[in-house]
Amino acid sequence: MNNPLHKPLLRWYDKHRRKLPWREKKSPYRTWISEMMLQQTQVATVIPYFERFLKRFPTVKDLAKASEPAVLKLWAGLGYYSRARNLRKAAKIIVAQHKGVIPSDVDSLRALPGIGRYSAGAISSIAFEEPNELVDGNVIRVFARLFGLRGDPKKPATQEKVWGLAAESLQRKRPGDWNQALMELGARVCIPDSPLCGDCPVSKSCFAFKNNLQESLPEPTASRTSITLTWTAILARESGKVLLWKRSKDERFLPGHWALPERRHLKGVRLGKTIKTVKHSITHHRITVHVCEGKIPTPLPDAARWVPSGKTKDRLVSSLWRKAVA
Ligand code: ADE
Repeated sequence: MNNPLHKPLLRWYDKHRRKLPWREKKSPYRTWISEMMLQQTQVATVIPYFERFLKRFPTVKDLAKASEPAVLKLWAGLGYYSRARNLRKAAKIIVAQHKGVIPSDVDSLRALPGIGRYSAGAISSIAFEEPNELVDGNVIRVFARLFGLRGDPKKPATQEKVWGLAAESLQRKRPGDWNQALMELGARVCIPDSPLCGDCPVSKSCFAFKNNLQESLPEPTASRTSITLTWTAILARESGKVLLWKRSKDERFLPGHWALPERRHLKGVRLGKTIKTVKHSITHHRITVHVCEGKIPTPLPDAARWVPSGKTKDRLVSSLWRKAVA
């Protein structure tokens, strides 16, 4: 039962781990918020957002009482805004159903909005030392190299194998540190290109290192080609005000967000000259927005509002629309 990975990797983690705000001062709430922010987002980007969020909403109860726009405003620029909406919804449920206490077991965690298999493993192990494994992109890469695992890392069958390996190799005395050590190794040493095997505490046990396959494992993903979209948005200005548009909840991109109106929203709009072109990516979509002058037909549609130019930032959450209006 003695796993030769445990001791060297935990020792390395104790010595080399980054001093991050959610690690230095720990609570289930801080772990939860940080793990939600860290999904799809780099640590360096997350830190200032985390600090601002915790200052504004220090407890689950504060978050449960907050309005959705207030939460989205603190999330502005982080992307994947459903994470913020789910956080607020989950906080309300934790207050209503769990007396304001974040649950520690995987099943109750997974019943909360925004918490899937990874997050439940992360929160239960890191915040509560529950012996649960987790798998993210870093862990997939680390295990693919350590154990010589073949297969497309994006395929469910490959991921299922990694979940199995993660469960088998879990260090059960310090599961939270163990899980973080695996992710930290993936982020700092066992990086995608040119991994730093000379700095790796477990290279002696690593299949890829021993077989000089660290550059070819994990196998390349059948890459998703990105989809190009072009939108035409209208920047209408009038006596120091800008016309903003509340996108419907049914929009495919940025539903419910304040934005600029697009040509397709306004029947009979007369377009003027193009003021600028803004590029922005959402998931695997590359979006080009041509921002044009335009005369808005009357009567003004319900979704439209004139907003003083100095105040647009209060409503615009996505950096796409902030760039378009700036
Ligand atoms: N990525 C997401 N959560 C992490 C954590 N707790 N430690 C290191 N990397 C992470």
